[in-house]
Amino acid sequence: MARVVLGVAGGIAAYKACSLLRLLTENGHDVTVVPTAAALRFVGAPTWEALSGHPVSTQVWDDVAEVPHVRLGQAADLVVVAPATADLLARAAAGLADDLLSSTLLTARCPVVMAPAMHTEMWGHAATRANVATLAARGVTIVPPASGRLTGADSGPGRLPEPEDLYAVCERLLAGDRREAEDRREAGPLAGRSVVVTAGGTREPLDPVRFLGNRSSGKQGFALAAVAAARGADVLLISANTSLPAPPGVTVVPGDTALEMRDGVLSAGKAADVVVMAAAVADFRPREYATEKIKKTYGDGADGGRGAEAAPTIELVRNPDILAELVAARGDDASPVVVGFAAETGDAHGTVLEHGRAKLERKGCDLLVVNEVGAGKAFGQDTNTVTILRQGSSHTVEAGPASKEAIAAAVWDAVQDIL
Ligand code: CTP
Repeated sequence: MARVVLGVAGGIAAYKACSLLRLLTENGHDVTVVPTAAALRFVGAPTWEALSGHPVSTQVWDDVAEVPHVRLGQAADLVVVAPATADLLARAAAGLADDLLSSTLLTARCPVVMAPAMHTEMWGHAATRANVATLAARGVTIVPPASGRLTGADSGPGRLPEPEDLYAVCERLLAGDRREAEDRREAGPLAGRSVVVTAGGTREPLDPVRFLGNRSSGKQGFALAAVAAARGADVLLISANTSLPAPPGVTVVPGDTALEMRDGVLSAGKAADVVVMAAAVADFRPREYATEKIKKTYGDGADGGRGAEAAPTIELVRNPDILAELVAARGDDASPVVVGFAAETGDAHGTVLEHGRAKLERKGCDLLVVNEVGAGKAFGQDTNTVTILRQGSSHTVEAGPASKEAIAAAVWDAVQDIL
């Protein structure tokens, strides 16, 4: 199964893209359709939504919290634009990002296919020719239009090729990409290694609508999983409350509370070569889970007249320390290699690094990745700065400020040293 973005520009041939969409979904691909506003004048959103099973949007202002203008392109294994109008080709060649499709084209790092369709005069115009040449030079696969009857009475080159032919091009590119990824993985430094990564922040339920949680976005954990997979490892990612797309080649399973995450980590950790605990696991959970929503009027009438001021006291209990349990469960071979993360703030008792060193001793893991947190640092950001501490060594590795992928690469370099 591949993640495909089907871009549809505003031309009469948009109706043929419906057949291409069916071919892609019937063959097991997960397709998100991104029409331009003009395309919706030819084929409406309900058709795309029904055929793809996903909501459809043309512009970047819907679901902003999910950052679709970046996410769709980043997560795609293939982007195919059919039909690509003269206007769409011009905007793509110029690198414009004024709607969801053009933004997706700018963020896509996967193969991109464009199937131009337009009147013969537009296709033959020097501007269109130059735009097509620019896109082809950047690696876009251009499927040239077929000749034949166009809209109206005229005929000539400009027709969208048949959906079956476009589908065959898509499959060829996906297969090539898969082969390339496999070659890379087989040769990678973590080839044959099995790793478990945790990501996100656990939520400890209080009642059916409330929880105790934290601000971890999961980005660093997802980057660790993606880099390990790219280096050839078999990766299981146990994710707590994230909505990030699964990195290529990574199996993602949920572990939303500390107890669920513990079950997942301890069972998968037994057979793993490496476990990286990047998740922010809650140290405490509410002792009681209220099966019905706790009402604001809690306690009224039973509080000797405190009335409007009455509020429940929430009693907490300690969660198990997954990292410490994992270390304690290891045999003489000290496998798996265990990596902890520590988000620290300096205080009157010590600096960030002093707290990190003490934590490394206390937890007994092999590596501790320490980052300073606080206003605007680490949580939800795309960059990070860390110090990697190693058990039994005074040697430290500083990484960043850099992307979370670059930080992940530094962490795996340190793990590879131990392996
Ligand atoms: N961790 C864990 N289980 C917990 C809490 C934390 O496995 N119940 C892991 C985290 O995933 C992280 C590391 O332990 O890799 C350090 O987490 P942190 O919360 O900084 O450690 P604590 O021991 O809880 O220390 P502190 O008192 O500073 O919160």
